[in-house]
Amino acid sequence: MLSDVLSQLKTAEQGLFISFEGIDGAGKSTHIEALVAAFNAEHGADKVIHTREPGGTPLAEKLRQLILNDPMDALTESFLVFAARRDHLNQVIEPALARGDVVLCDRFTDATFAYQGGGRGFDLKTLSILERFTQQIRRLEPENAYNLDDLLIRQPDLTIWFDLPPEIAAERLAGARVPDKFEAQPVEFFRQVAAGYQHRMDENPARFAKINAHQSREAVWADVLAAVKSKGFLA
Ligand code: TYD
Repeated sequence: MLSDVLSQLKTAEQGLFISFEGIDGAGKSTHIEALVAAFNAEHGADKVIHTREPGGTPLAEKLRQLILNDPMDALTESFLVFAARRDHLNQVIEPALARGDVVLCDRFTDATFAYQGGGRGFDLKTLSILERFTQQIRRLEPENAYNLDDLLIRQPDLTIWFDLPPEIAAERLAGARVPDKFEAQPVEFFRQVAAGYQHRMDENPARFAKINAHQSREAVWADVLAAVKSKGFLA
């Protein structure tokens, strides 16, 4: 099958990087698990990395505890999520992609634009600069080392966005567990987060698959699988 060939080519050359996004309570976890199982079956478990942000390395997991629990201003929060991301890229994501592995990551930089940018209202231009510093992968011209415009920036090959009305997400979260700093935010915060995701998708429409998460679990899973298959990433 063509999609078979495409998916083999894709992973053999440079690996495959898929991120998962959505507001708290959108229900991405079970679908990420299912997708990990599907990729394991096709590529072998030793070729599939399931990871998360903030986190994914010992240092980044320590930063996660601070980010999720300690009060701080939005710039400090942004520095910490990008610091965690830098370590995660260096230690886990870039080596895995260089080996040709599949990386399935629960949240990546779109979450920063959505939560710190949309939710907290932090300056998007500053986030873009931090993004370029953090996710640079190769300089096109070594002599232009300080020209950020000449850097290649690591981004996921596909971002699956679980879109759910914030009111529904709040109902699903209520009483589920002790909320962290973000989960304790009011519905209006998550409206802004969702707007942040939408803005990000509008800027990168080809990278995003927006999934309606306000459906039965089976229907959401069918949409997730269809999004991945339509890119030729699973047979
Ligand atoms: P989440 O991914 O929802 O994990 P869990 O399902 O275990 O609660 O939690 C991560 C939280 O961190 C989430 O509320 C979003 C937030 N976050 C940011 O604010 N900025 C970021 O850049 C990232 C990656 C996450």
